[in-house]
Amino acid sequence: MQKEITTSGALQKLPTQIVASSDEMRELLGVVRAVAPTLITVLLTGESGTGKEVFARLIHDWSGRTSGPFVTVNCGAIPEGLIESELFGHEKGSFTGATAERKGFFEAAKGGTIFLDEIGEMPLSAQVKLLRILETGKFTRVGSTTERSSDARVIAATNRDLELEVRAGKFRADLYYRLRAVMLRLPPLRNRREDIPFLIDSILHDLVARHSLPHLPHLESEAIEELTSYEWRGNIRELRNTLEQLSVMAFSPATSSQGVITSNDVRSILHRHSEAEFGYHNVALSPIAHPQPQQSELGLIYRALVELRNDISELKERLQPSTNHIPLSLPPGSINHNGINNELNLSKHEEEMIHRALQRFEGDRRLAADALGISERSLYRKLKEFEEEKK
Ligand SMILES: Nc1ncnc2c1ncn2[C@@H]1O[C@H](COP(=O)(O)OP(=O)(O)OP(=O)(O)O)[C@@H](O)[C@H]1O
Ligand SMILES: [Mg+2]
Repeated sequence: MQKEITTSGALQKLPTQIVASSDEMRELLGVVRAVAPTLITVLLTGESGTGKEVFARLIHDWSGRTSGPFVTVNCGAIPEGLIESELFGHEKGSFTGATAERKGFFEAAKGGTIFLDEIGEMPLSAQVKLLRILETGKFTRVGSTTERSSDARVIAATNRDLELEVRAGKFRADLYYRLRAVMLRLPPLRNRREDIPFLIDSILHDLVARHSLPHLPHLESEAIEELTSYEWRGNIRELRNTLEQLSVMAFSPATSSQGVITSNDVRSILHRHSEAEFGYHNVALSPIAHPQPQQSELGLIYRALVELRNDISELKERLQPSTNHIPLSLPPGSINHNGINNELNLSKHEEEMIHRALQRFEGDRRLAADALGISERSLYRKLKEFEEEKK
């Protein structure tokens, strides 16, 4: 379903889940509309959770090149030594471990879009090759002298200040100037508060479907005010997570909320966020300087309920016979396909934990790595290892 809104006089069709009603966002959409059908490189900047990936997909969707794929590359997650081969491909035997020739992401994105996320993390050596492909459309696979062409449209994103990175000698100035031919800055949510009520509405509709809630939760007007005036350092992602916790809570049999979310509920959740972010001693910065004991208790109940709900949906998933379902954890003593007892197999457990974390965070490697307490690069390396083992 598409929602229509008018931007700079032109009719825009937006996917329903994208909200952009503030003047600032409408202006951005106007630029997106104009640049999307061209092959111009676009650099998206903005704090974490402001919608850079959402906009990258929108540019692809409006590019007229949707028969080609949208390929996302998280430059921060690829080990430095592998990034060139991942991007541009390699020939068989070009380095230890290159047992077969391999196409890179640029070749995979043929006819479509390559989205270079966290471009600020790209090592200097790969930046040279990237500049070349942007300027000439040409590249060579690692270990090859044959020149190849790429018609992939490049979109890059970063939440770092690339100008500072350039000054610090970590990012090439020529690449930066090439990338920022069109630079779109996604404003932080606190600078476009008029979008918040619309976002709340859109996100709640989505959550009702996702969690099979009986109906839309009802937010009291003071609750909406609380949400609208909050700082949202984590931007739309944090707003979404907050609404998810509130909705689950509102329909929990453990409370008598019956789908109603009050300003107290909101304050209690946001207070917990501030505590987690700033530590208890800085709680004075949060809207409630001195939490009531019952509010902290409520916070604990919230957390327990959200976790319980996640566990229940996980259990449900496990019980449903499904061919594409990854078993998340094997019961002790279970036997794998080779008849080998898995209970003491550490790497198997590690793999399961990783799949579990990825599933919980819907494939977001950064969040999964955080939850597992490892770096994103380590997570990536481990996934590669599991892939290799399966070959
Ligand atoms: N305009 C929007 N309308 C509705 N939801 C949005 C919008 N922009 C982003 N979101 C939602 O906010 C969340 C974060 O968006 P996204 O992943 O695009 O942010 P990001 O800027 O790429 O963050 P990061 O820098 O952490 O990677 C997602 O759940 C996304 O669906
Ligand atoms: Mg992102």
